[in-house]
Amino acid sequence: MSRTEWILLNPGPANTSPAVKQALVTPDLCHREPEFFQVMRRCRERLVRLACGGGDWSAVLFTGSGTASVEAAVCSAVPPGRSLLVVDNGVYGDRMVRIARAHGIPAEVLSYDIWTPAAPADVARVLRAHPEVSHVAVVHHETTTGLLNPVAEIARVAEREGRRVFVDAMSSLFGEPLDVTAGSMDFVTASANKCLQGIPGISFVLARRGALEALKGQAPRSEMPGRRSWSSRRKAWSAASSAMPRTPACCGPAWGGSGSRSWWPWAHGPTSSPPSGSCRGSVTIRSTMP
Ligand SMILES: Cc1ncc(COP(=O)(O)O)c(C=O)c1O
Repeated sequence: MSRTEWILLNPGPANTSPAVKQALVTPDLCHREPEFFQVMRRCRERLVRLACGGGDWSAVLFTGSGTASVEAAVCSAVPPGRSLLVVDNGVYGDRMVRIARAHGIPAEVLSYDIWTPAAPADVARVLRAHPEVSHVAVVHHETTTGLLNPVAEIARVAEREGRRVFVDAMSSLFGEPLDVTAGSMDFVTASANKCLQGIPGISFVLARRGALEALKGQAPRSEMPGRRSWSSRRKAWSAASSAMPRTPACCGPAWGGSGSRSWWPWAHGPTSSPPSGSCRGSVTIRSTMP
């Protein structure tokens, strides 16, 4: 095996530490067994804790790249007969528009050029003009340009207008301050391989428990990774301790390791300790790269 250590200068996948690599080399684990459920449960709890979500929040994990979790959230969140307002000021805002259209979800688009962050007042104006909109979808960090949208302010504006918010925080969660509890933020998506510095192939949605409950009984738009699988996962997780309805790509260590070492960032050293106890507000995890 080559021992060359590359320094990856792309926004993701990020470099992984020796601890992350070592965590991959453990005995096989069956995803239908309690040992796996335990690993899953721990990963989900730690994600919520790291994001400072508190008891009102949960985490749903997906086998798939970041787009899988974005698609799951977009096609699950908007109820039949309602529509989505997408803030589009870059590649990933545009992707959410495409996802909505692919699933036949009506989408209003609030467009800016790629250098202009969304203005919360514009969001409020569009929401007032479109009562059919139930959710606002916005990218926190447009990775290709580095643009940051003021997602907390947008979530507060949306809350005042009685709407819920979905945030694609793929390249910012745990790298930029982000208060997931702000306003009416319900869903926040990211993947393992960016600021968490884990391996690619796993993405997740942080979700308000109430928002997950609201999915109950809604007709699915997709078998995988849509609403049906999402809600059945949630049911399975609470009933059968973090079982997954489908076969995950990684059966064990890649989901967090069964020992004390894992790919979660606080396993890497003191600069990235998880926040202790319950906390509210934003948290920034400093890079653990050498
Ligand atoms: C903001 C944002 N959203 C979504 C994605 C899509 O993630 P993936 O390429 O893992 O599907 C990326 C990828 O870089 C991203 O930066």
